[in-house]
Amino acid sequence: MSEWHDIAAESDVVEGTPTIARIGGREIGVLRDPRTNGLVAIRNRCPHSGAQLCLGTLEQRVEGEAGGHYELVDRTVIVCPWHGWEFDATSGQCPEDKNMRAAVYPVKVEAGRVLVQA
Ligand code: FES
Repeated sequence: MSEWHDIAAESDVVEGTPTIARIGGREIGVLRDPRTNGLVAIRNRCPHSGAQLCLGTLEQRVEGEAGGHYELVDRTVIVCPWHGWEFDATSGQCPEDKNMRAAVYPVKVEAGRVLVQA
């Protein structure tokens, strides 16, 4: 059964630097979304080939079609540092491959502390 785990003070989770905790044998990173300023919690293991996914970057998703028309969409992805695959920061879904999903976890702030459910 999953429980809420106290990870860090909210003020310690800053943009661009993941806060990594080990919970039940898994490394889980809490990151600050630069687009929303909210927090996301993602397992620190890429489902493609096992990179430390939380060392990637959080970015606004860009979508487009062949022919050069691209647009920013209302969605944040984490970009894997090894091969550049993207995973939705909230759902974990890879937009390019529906069979590929990163593990994500509920995260909340209570009394200035970051809690992750895992
Ligand atoms: S290990 Fe993450 S995209 Fe390959």
